[in-house]
Amino acid sequence: MATEMEKRESSSFYEALDDKLAHYTLLALGCAAAAYYIWHLAFRFSSHLRRLSTFGDQNQRYYVQAHERFSWVKKHVIYAPLFRNRHNRELQLSQAINMGTLPSRFHAFLVVGIVAMNVALCVVTTPYGTEEDTLAGIVRNRTGTMATVNLIPLILMAGRNNPLIAMLHVPFDTWNLLHRWLGRIVVLEALAHTFAWMVPKVQEGSWNVVGEAISGSSFLLSGFVTTCTLTALLVHSPSAIRHAFYETFIHFHFVLAAVSMGFLWVHLNGMVAQTYLLVAIVFWALERATRLLILVYRNVGYNSTTATVEALPGDAMRVTLRLARPWTFRPGQHIYLYVPAIGWWTSHPFSVSWSESEQVFSDEKALPLAQQDLLRTPEKETLSLLIRRRTGMTDKLFQRAVNSIGSRVTLRAFVEGPYGNIHSMDSYGTVMLFAGGVGITHHVPFVRHLVAGFAEGTVATRRLTLVWIIQSPEHLEWIRPWMTRILAMDRRREVLRIMLFVTRPRNTKEIQSPSATVQMFPGRPNIDTLVAMEVENQVGAMGVLVCGNGGLSDDVRRVCRKRQSQTNLDFVEESFTW
Ligand SMILES: Cc1cc2nc3c(=O)[nH]c(=O)nc-3n(C[C@H](O)[C@H](O)[C@H](O)COP(=O)(O)OP(=O)(O)OC[C@H]3O[C@@H](n4cnc5c(N)ncnc54)[C@H](O)[C@@H]3O)c2cc1C
Ligand SMILES: *[C@@H]1O[C@H](CO)[C@@H](O)[C@H](O)[C@H]1NC(C)=O
Repeated sequence: MATEMEKRESSSFYEALDDKLAHYTLLALGCAAAAYYIWHLAFRFSSHLRRLSTFGDQNQRYYVQAHERFSWVKKHVIYAPLFRNRHNRELQLSQAINMGTLPSRFHAFLVVGIVAMNVALCVVTTPYGTEEDTLAGIVRNRTGTMATVNLIPLILMAGRNNPLIAMLHVPFDTWNLLHRWLGRIVVLEALAHTFAWMVPKVQEGSWNVVGEAISGSSFLLSGFVTTCTLTALLVHSPSAIRHAFYETFIHFHFVLAAVSMGFLWVHLNGMVAQTYLLVAIVFWALERATRLLILVYRNVGYNSTTATVEALPGDAMRVTLRLARPWTFRPGQHIYLYVPAIGWWTSHPFSVSWSESEQVFSDEKALPLAQQDLLRTPEKETLSLLIRRRTGMTDKLFQRAVNSIGSRVTLRAFVEGPYGNIHSMDSYGTVMLFAGGVGITHHVPFVRHLVAGFAEGTVATRRLTLVWIIQSPEHLEWIRPWMTRILAMDRRREVLRIMLFVTRPRNTKEIQSPSATVQMFPGRPNIDTLVAMEVENQVGAMGVLVCGNGGLSDDVRRVCRKRQSQTNLDFVEESFTW
């Protein structure tokens, strides 16, 4: 039997150890982020050098070659799906039930690392020889501390305004994946924490003892409620539910998370771990405050933000945004759109497809009379979106436009952004853009930017191929005004080639190639052949960007991995989901 004195000493030793392990967790995650930052900085630096060195150099032959070891890593780790080829194509039980997607090998490696670290820290320094009740106490305290400290990265990774997105150039969907896994870890740790308390209690007496203890102490009660709400968070978050009822999910998620934090605060009152919770809460508050500030800054001013929605054939709409305070748009950026008349306070992410300066007249009918008036009229940027109709807010928006005069309606809107723009294609001599359906909206600004850059001599790009897969020719209407502008750009013919694949043409007469640089084909493309053709004539390093459904992305990914050993090829994927 250990003396009272010894017991107290060992418990203070374990308390100090718990605290240390909590710090190690944060340190390990921080080091992983720092290591990634350095790696990415090196990557960006070499891209930048490549871009600079290609000015005036037409063949860029030096950059065509693959780097042997690096291309192996890209093929087998960075671009590799977990198993064979499947990554973003959803695992579906039926049309309606979506079981989520498989992570890539690199992502799986990160997730396994985080899980292993938590298991190790919860298990490693536990003294298994000691008496049962001391052991239970140690496990209980350890898992409780770990669950709390993990809330810090958990909350940080959940935010749109996570500063690490811009710093590490890691997209939101990767953070979202890590957020989900950390969430699972936290819930399991909280459950272990609760059971480590409950099991000895039940052994001691019965379930009545447990019930009485919980109802008799606010410390135990608040802890118990926290574990319950955390478990509820886990239970309502599977991919199927998230994707089928996104809006309901997100509201429920928010409320449950807030309730958990509140009860946890009471539970931890006066303990060291309360500081970890405080940090997590501060992160959350900061993220929310940033969103609010961005919303106010972008949309509240002399003029408020409006959205003109125009219904298009093929279940899509073009949305033109006039912001109170616009920004200089860059390719790859997306925004969150709020349309209170349609979706109250809810927001949806959309890529920005086009930006344009428009002259603003105070009265639309009054034309400027003199040259001076013309000079004085302020110019304002408008931003345009292309939105595919789905079943929720986008469906209501579409209905609203279709039922208006001229299939067009202007509504009050709020825009939160810009977000994204973490990939640059400027340093690639050869660029291939693959788009499926509405995925084209992400590529249009890249095409415009690279063609303009080619004419001005500010980018490395010498060959640019856009491959767009659509179901019917009427979908061409979606981007017609923008494409007309791009096709008229200076020196466009020297650099840009467009290939359109129409998968369900009504008749063959519809399939006509307008010119040698804009070609139209029936059916699906053979990605392998298209990439092979470009590789054969490759100038400089090659960058492949894909935005479309999971099946298309996985196909392009497979082909790009296959080519790794032959040529210097980078693969970038943008998916419209998480
Ligand atoms: C970075 C990014 C850029 C995008 N860009 C475009 C674009 O340019 N054009 C376009 O048509 N679509 C784009 N999307 C997809 C678009 O956000 C969804 O189609 C839209 O939110 C669906 O709204 P809904 O209410 O009609 O959805 P529903 O029909 O209810 O659901 C359809 C799917 O959209 C997802 N979804 C619903 N609401 C949200 C939300 N608030 N946030 C995130 N996902 C949600 C659901 O999980 C579900 O899988 C983009 C998505 C992301 C993540
Ligand atoms: C567990 O933590 C509580 C509260 O901080 C403390 O009173 C107790 O002594 C700790 N037990 C052990 C075994 O470390």
